[in-house]
Parts: sequence; C-alpha cells; structure tokens
Amino acid sequence: MTHKIALVTGAARGIGQAIAVQLAADGADLALCDVQAEGLDVTAAQVRELGRRAETYAMNVADASAVDATVARVVADFGRIDILVNNAGINRDTLLIRMTENDWDQVLDVNLKGAFLVSKAVVKVMMKQRAGAIVNIASVVGLMGNAGQANYTAAKAGLIALTKTTAKELGSRGIRANAVAPGFIRTAMTDQLSEQAQQAMLRLVPLGRPGEPEDVARAVTFLASDNAAYVNGQVLTVCGGMVM
Ligand SMILES: NC(=O)c1ccc[n+]([C@@H]2O[C@H](COP(=O)([O-])OP(=O)(O)OC[C@H]3O[C@@H](n4cnc5c(N)ncnc54)[C@H](O)[C@@H]3O)[C@@H](O)[C@H]2O)c1
Repeated sequence: MTHKIALVTGAARGIGQAIAVQLAADGADLALCDVQAEGLDVTAAQVRELGRRAETYAMNVADASAVDATVARVVADFGRIDILVNNAGINRDTLLIRMTENDWDQVLDVNLKGAFLVSKAVVKVMMKQRAGAIVNIASVVGLMGNAGQANYTAAKAGLIALTKTTAKELGSRGIRANAVAPGFIRTAMTDQLSEQAQQAMLRLVPLGRPGEPEDVARAVTFLASDNAAYVNGQVLTVCGGMVM
C-alpha cells in the first residue's frame, strides 16, 4: 500500500496506534485522529520513524461539524483518502438495570454514530476517487452479547450492520467495507477490568492468551490492502478462537 493515504480514528493509543504503525510499515501515509490530541504525537513519531508521513488532528468522532472540518483538512493536506479505519471507541460497562441513559448515549454516540459520521464524510471523497477501503473495528461481543455491556454490544452489533450496508451501497463505486471483531485484547480498555473478569474472559479463549493490538492491526491491514480486493462486507474475528 505504498503511498496510500489512511485515516485512523482513536489513533492515540492501543489498537488504533498499532493499526497506524502497521499501515505505515506496509507503506501508507497517515492522518491520525483522536479526541486526546496529545497522545497522537507518540503515534506520529512511530509512523515517521518508519519513513512515512503523519499528520495529527484533534477530532471527536461524535461531533458532526468537527468531523466534516477534519476530513476537509485531511484532503487539503494529503489530496485523497484511500483507507478509513473507524477505531475510536469507549465503554461504560454496567448491568442493564443500572445503566443510565447517559451511559447508553455516550457509548452509542462514539462507537456507532461516530463511525457513521466519519464514514459519510470520507465516502464522499472516496466516491470521487471511485476507490477506497473502510475497516470498522467492531467486537466479538457485537456477535455474541455480553452481560454488563448492553450499550457497547448494541453499538458494535450496529457497527457490523453499518459495515454490511456500506458494502452493499458502495461496492459499485469501488469502495469496500469490512469489519474486524477483536476478542480480548490487552489495552488500557481491558486493563480496567478486574482480575476476575480478565480470567473469566481468558477461559473462553482456546489459544489461552489475550490478543495484542498488533494481532488486530495485521488483520486490519490485510482487509485495507489490495490483497483483500474481493473481500467485502465481511466480519473477521481476531479472538484466538473465542467465537467460531
Ligand atoms: N481492547 C479490547 O479488548 C477490544 C476488544 C474488542 C474491540 N475493541 C475495540 O477496539 C477499538 C480500540 O480499543 P482500545 O482497546 O485500543 O481502546 P483504548 O481506550 O486504548 O483506545 C481508544 C482510543 O479512542 C479514542 N477515543 C475515544 N473516544 C473518542 C472520540 N469521541 N473521538 C475520537 N477518539 C476517541 C481514545 O482517546 C483512545 O485513544 C475500540 O473501538 C474498541 O471498542 C477493543
């Protein structure tokens, strides 16, 4: 993917950072977006060390006008967008009975509406190019449900449906959309789980270990690349066999 331009959301740390670095290792230049702008400098430095271009953009994916303005700046800076990775996500875990409307709205806003807003803005650019690849970062819990995550599982299931609809609407314009559904991956998001919850998750993983952000990143770069030119509307689980 030499000289392809990739926009990654939630690129300041964790899985988004690993995706950006793997895309750069494979030759792409990076537009790095995150609501936590400070962390983006670390990712940008790693991309530049690999000899690729990186620009950073503070952007809340749930803010429609900020998304439109940022995508316009990315196009002004790079001239095109070949790859979009909708990775930004949050969780606000609690049992349904205790979940507040605010817990629900925040998670749906970032994880689902955010992907819709960024996709809509970027797809306009990709349609003019008549080419593009979108990879949405869902989750295995969007396929199987998970106690304590009504908001998050609903958002991720919605993201999988958004992926398939995007693939159906835009395939004829040369734009592919696929999802990666990670399982239990070691990041700040899962570090906050209790030891007991982490062990319970691990018992479901036939490979017997948590995944690393790089495990997810390699699946994302495959789907974003021309090696996956005929892969469209699919969900690739990266979960050590947790779901099969
Ligand atoms: N870690 C896991 O086990 C796991 C499993 C399945 C899916 N996922 C998904 O992978 C993605 C990345 O997760 P992670 O584990 O790296 O989490 P993380 O919390 O380490 O990183 C998420 C990044 O998204 C950014 N972000 C949050 N809200 C944002 C917003 N409104 N606008 C822009 N950026 C925002 C954060 O600042 C952060 O840099 C998420 O979509 C998550 O749901 C993670």
